[in-house]
Amino acid sequence: MRATIVQLSDPHLFGDPQAQHRDVTTAASFAAVVAHARRVAPDCDAVVLTGDLCHDPSPEGYEAVRQALGDWLDRTLVIAGNHDDLHMLGAMFGRPEANGDAVCFRSLIGDRDWQLIGVDSVVPGETHGWLDEEQLQQLDAWLAEDPARPTLLFLHHPPIALGSAWLDPLLLRNPEQLAGRLPGSGVRAMFCGHAHTDQTGELAGIPVHVTPSTAFQFVMSGQSISIDPSPPGFRVIRIDDDRLATEVVRLA
Ligand SMILES: [Fe+2]
Ligand SMILES: [Fe+2]
Repeated sequence: MRATIVQLSDPHLFGDPQAQHRDVTTAASFAAVVAHARRVAPDCDAVVLTGDLCHDPSPEGYEAVRQALGDWLDRTLVIAGNHDDLHMLGAMFGRPEANGDAVCFRSLIGDRDWQLIGVDSVVPGETHGWLDEEQLQQLDAWLAEDPARPTLLFLHHPPIALGSAWLDPLLLRNPEQLAGRLPGSGVRAMFCGHAHTDQTGELAGIPVHVTPSTAFQFVMSGQSISIDPSPPGFRVIRIDDDRLATEVVRLA
């Protein structure tokens, strides 16, 4: 079984397609990243958007994300970021596995050999993340259905420290509750956004991959937020039978 997944994170679109943030026209940057992803992975099986689709949520902003995805919409899976409006995002992208107000998903790929799970780590009104009891129970239920099925888990907020004085307090604040569920589960890797950087670590022995923004990047060092001039990027995840490989691809 072979499958390819494209992860796009943190587009931060606005209702106005010309709007800039941190000197980046986020809609144009997202369009350029999607175009490059189409060249790298034209026949991808799934596209996962890991949050902060809009910087300032509006129906026009979400519609712009949908338009940019074009015919990839049929394979797109979405979770929210702290900048998103859960109701607007849920309404614009549908909520196939709705659980309360959360925007989460579960999708089987290949011949149902692998599964993709996205959980909602957003705390409305806050920048940091938290997996509430409902999301943890939902994750437990999905993982318990077939504990042997290899699983890729997506969440907006990284569940590991990134060595950043200013950003680490704004990541997932209850990673231990996630870590406790991983041993013996099918989870093979986790993929996040939110930090607008490329970094890999591990939680309970499972790889955690943080993926750059399709717009602007952050510097992890220092005491406050600053912008890294690295180009926008996305992540490709390839499954070949039981093997998993992933890489970040940047625009030139
Ligand atoms: Fe973001
Ligand atoms: Fe975020």
